[in-house]
Amino acid sequence: MCGIFAVVNDKTNQASQTVLEGLKKLEYRGYDSWGIAIKSAASKLEVEKHVGKIGEAKTSLPEGSLAIGHTRWATHGGVTDANAHPHLDCTGKLAIIHNGIVENYLEFKEDLIKKGHKFSSETDTETVAHLIEEKIKRLPLEKAVFETFNLLVGSNAIGVIDMETETIIACRNGSPLAVGVDEANQQFFLGSDVTAFLKYTNSVHFLEDGEAVVMSRSGVKLYDVKSGKEKPLTLQKLDWKLEDAEKSGYPHFLLKEIMEQKETIAKTAALNETEIIKISESIRNGDKVVLLGCGTASYCALAGKYFLAQAGIESQAYGGYEFLPFSGFANDKTVVIAISQSGETADTLIAARAAKKAGARIVSIVNARGSTLERLSETVLSVGAGPEIAVVSTKAFTAQLATLYLLAKACANKYDEGKQRIKNFKEILDRWMNQDLTDRLIELAKNLIDQEHAYLIGKHLNYPAALEFALKIKETAYIHAEPFAAGELKHGVITLIQKGTPCFVLASNDDVKGEILSSAAELKARGGKIIGIAPFRSEEFEEAVQTPDLGELTVIPNIIVGQFLGYFLGVGRGADPDKPRNLAKSVTVK
Ligand code: M6R
Repeated sequence: MCGIFAVVNDKTNQASQTVLEGLKKLEYRGYDSWGIAIKSAASKLEVEKHVGKIGEAKTSLPEGSLAIGHTRWATHGGVTDANAHPHLDCTGKLAIIHNGIVENYLEFKEDLIKKGHKFSSETDTETVAHLIEEKIKRLPLEKAVFETFNLLVGSNAIGVIDMETETIIACRNGSPLAVGVDEANQQFFLGSDVTAFLKYTNSVHFLEDGEAVVMSRSGVKLYDVKSGKEKPLTLQKLDWKLEDAEKSGYPHFLLKEIMEQKETIAKTAALNETEIIKISESIRNGDKVVLLGCGTASYCALAGKYFLAQAGIESQAYGGYEFLPFSGFANDKTVVIAISQSGETADTLIAARAAKKAGARIVSIVNARGSTLERLSETVLSVGAGPEIAVVSTKAFTAQLATLYLLAKACANKYDEGKQRIKNFKEILDRWMNQDLTDRLIELAKNLIDQEHAYLIGKHLNYPAALEFALKIKETAYIHAEPFAAGELKHGVITLIQKGTPCFVLASNDDVKGEILSSAAELKARGGKIIGIAPFRSEEFEEAVQTPDLGELTVIPNIIVGQFLGYFLGVGRGADPDKPRNLAKSVTVK
């Protein structure tokens, strides 16, 4: 949570504009407030901070070529201008931006106040600025920053701008940071995510935990924060393109990313084959399988459990946040499949680390590049969906689901068959995701626009599909959408159904089709308005959206209907589909 961006040697000398643009790309990480600090020609640090989303904001900061900026998801201290980053030290010569939580900041704050430091915010971050200010009295800047950072407990990334040395120093422990080098123009960038500076360079170093960069006018140097020793900076060229991080004519990233699934799902068939076969062999040879993830990724884990069961493999699926009581059961015969778009979700990382400690082999299914989860995994299945900017996950989820399906098929010794079926998605989705479909869904969204509650049922693979479908409606349209396993209905839930209550029924042409239709009939008998999402028609459905009949993979188009519907409902209800209220894309705190 929170986005960090910085530039050194901005060639336009409009570093505040460059930072503002970069922050717009990072806003998905938090949008409670934003702020920029720039070294102006007057040899001052000038700071501008505002509550709220960046949107079309402009900055009135003066010219300059060295600046840092931040977009905040509040943890310590309310959403106010004063609590927005950057935070200055007492001298006003040093400013700091921060992503994470300094768990022990209170240990230092009182002492700093006694020493005469004046605090202007309620944040943990400001403490770090004053700590550096204290240390700088007896140490060079780099050492002062490194020593301070070594004192901090928690997952943190900081960026510090120093006016006097014209330097930006950044340190990482648990929260992501990447540095970008534009060799041709000698411009240097820092970002929580590469999308923020992809426009200028694709030459990147992802910082490891315990690494720091010192970005000066003359170049970028990499250090080990603990020892203070310099290390070689290794840059890699990313294959991501600028268009991947742009809306490309779509009104919102969410819609663009839903549409991109025409390519991204099929693309997974061309990735990770060797690794998938290897993992499937150890699973077949008796390794226990545990699937982990949070939010959407946890529903992916649950769907994976059904796919694996179809391949004759027993597995367990957990939300990362509930795994610790069970982590002790993992051992060196356990394969933990950790699923995460960002690879930075705190609860997933904690769970994966605990399993690793117990001896398990960690396989991660991730989308973003250079993440912490990738680094702690023995095997990485990178799903290649490209940057997912909208806070609500869509294309990363379906690419992860397709990857799990391929793994299950490999476990059943049917990898090639699975690969072909995933490859076919390109053509199938090209045909199905057309104007007729979106017109139909807009019409359905109009009929549902004033509803405050909806219920969903699914059985077997359509159960995790219902969970994910419901989350899309909740996140994007702020409608209370409650999903259930169809079998649960008669055990209490059915009391909630009244005349006209929207009830989505997710179904496939499978061996439980009859049962789910009976559940639909029961809901209908209580007055529920039944909306069928299925590859067939049924007289139980009052409204219906027909999906392609893809056997067990029908759940993918069934979920895509939920993504579209969430989007259209969200837009219709005046929500911001790319940045739903209270959410951040990467939940990097526990
Ligand atoms: O980056 P991750 O996949 O680990 O993120 C996990 C969840 O935070 C994420 O899926 C969240 O539920 C999204 N809001 C879903 O749209």
